[in-house]
Amino acid sequence: MVGPSLINSLKTLSKEEFVKTVRDGRLDKGMQSFGTSQQVMDNMDHLYAYLKGRSDGAITRAKVEPLNK
Ligand code: HEM
Repeated sequence: MVGPSLINSLKTLSKEEFVKTVRDGRLDKGMQSFGTSQQVMDNMDHLYAYLKGRSDGAITRAKVEPLNK
C-alpha cells in the first residue's frame, strides 16, 4: 500500500537488487532500511523465495504461522 507491488517488481528485479533494496532501503524515496533487523536479514533467502514464488505463480497459497514460537 505504500510501495510498489512486489508481485510485479520481482518479475524484473534480480535477487541482488531485492536484497540490496531491503537491506539498505531507498531512504530518499521513502523505502525504509531493514539492515538492522536481525530477523529480516536472517530470513532474506526465504523472504525472496516466497515473494518470487508469489510473483511467478509457483506459490498460489501460503500457510502463515506466527514466528514467536
Ligand atoms: C513500512 C514499510 C515499507 C515502506 C514505507 C516501503 C516503501 C517503499 C517505497 C516508497 C518504495 C519505492 C522506492 C522507489 O521508488 O525506488 C519501495 C520499494 C521496494 N520495497 Fe518497500 N517499503 C516498506 C517495506 C518493505 C518490505 C517489508 C519489503 C520486503 C519484504 C520491501 C521491499 C521493497 C523492494 C524490493 C522495493 C523495490 C521494488 C522495485 O524496485 O520495483 N519493502 N518500498
